[in-house]
Amino acid sequence: MAARVAIWVACVLVMVATCQGRLRVGYYHRKCPPAEYVVRDVVGKAVRQNPGVGAGIVRMFFHDCFVQGCDASVLLDPTPANPQPEKLGPPNFPSLRGFEVIDAAKSAVEKVCPGVVSCADIIAFAARDASFFLSGHRRPPGGGSAGRVSLANETLAFLPPPFFNLTQLVGSFQAKGLDVDDLVVLSGAHTIGRSHCSSFTDRLSPPSDMNPALATVLRAKCPANPNFTNDPTVVQDVVTPDAMDNQYYKNVLAKNVLFDSDAALLSSPPTAAKVAAFARGKWERSFARAMVKLGGIEVKTAANGEIRRMCRIVN
Ligand code: HEM
Ligand SMILES: *[C@@H]1O[C@H](CO)[C@@H](O)[C@H](O)[C@H]1NC(C)=O
Ligand SMILES: *[C@@H]1O[C@H](CO)[C@@H](O)[C@H](O)[C@H]1NC(C)=O
Ligand SMILES: *[C@@H]1O[C@H](CO)[C@@H](O)[C@H](O)[C@H]1NC(C)=O
Repeated sequence: MAARVAIWVACVLVMVATCQGRLRVGYYHRKCPPAEYVVRDVVGKAVRQNPGVGAGIVRMFFHDCFVQGCDASVLLDPTPANPQPEKLGPPNFPSLRGFEVIDAAKSAVEKVCPGVVSCADIIAFAARDASFFLSGHRRPPGGGSAGRVSLANETLAFLPPPFFNLTQLVGSFQAKGLDVDDLVVLSGAHTIGRSHCSSFTDRLSPPSDMNPALATVLRAKCPANPNFTNDPTVVQDVVTPDAMDNQYYKNVLAKNVLFDSDAALLSSPPTAAKVAAFARGKWERSFARAMVKLGGIEVKTAANGEIRRMCRIVN
């Protein structure tokens, strides 16, 4: 009963239309009623211990969905047959984190319902729950299966790098069926988590439109030429580093953001207006809705996916 109410509330929040489409919120409520709670429990414990892994999982969801759709292809370990899976692509390695939490959630779910819940949905639930624990928001739907294709080269092809300008960002989102509003809303995820210095050192010396005060702070924390063995991390949102809130948009307005891709949101009047609106008012609900849309990219069905027994290897 509680579950049904929760689903209903979620449906209203993510808009009824989405719930009635092919993405079924509460897909597992008949097939494996405890699934979502089991995942939430594991994620809650992990995030309380280290909020950073929550940020890692939110990013993991994005990186999974933008490459081969939301199919958990990002989780696959290298094998002799596929020595270069997505996981090892430059946007993911070594920065992507939270894999152990997904493993723990999957094994906990397998104990209660073996072979029912896909790894893709575990990432989606975990990203939702991580967002929830870091703020208070809603659920993306379940129902996708896991893919078998995972290629490192595709991470570079589809994941936008931090130096992209607005035109390029809009292009990479459009290629995945997301629009410019989704870009502005989802970029707000940079209100949590961290970045390695190598992702933004080019912006620390003039000419740069980074706030000079922030640039000074970062120059003190980052080597001039970071390399693989010397690449410290800094928080993305210096004001509320672990809170899923609209502070990101205030940071964008104040030019207190790390990447060109963040600053670029001010480079067109319509996106700048959106940034200003989110800086003033509510963002969380828009984010929840956009995360659901993100979760709908190139959804796999049983025909081209599978329920893996372990998320790191295909069955
Ligand atoms: C718009 C294009 C985007 C670009 C260019 C971008 C780029 C980046 C980069 C370079 C980092 C730092 C990685 C590192 O050096 O450790 C990062 C971190 C992060 N990104 Fe994005 N990102 C984008 C969109 C998104 C979206 C759509 C989401 C989720 C909805 C997201 C969530 C995150 C999170 C949560 C982190 C922190 C991860 C951690 O702490 O481990 N990003 N992003
Ligand atoms: C990635 O590499 C595979 C084979 O190694 C190739 O078939 C595929 O087209 C490449 N994808 C991209 C986006 O370059
Ligand atoms: C964005 O970058 C692309 C590729 O470098 C370039 O062709 C385009 O003119 C740039 N757009 C803007 C608005 O700067
Ligand atoms: C990385 O940079 C540090 C100094 O910043 C240097 O001591 C080290 O040799 C460099 N490592 C590599 C692998 O280039």
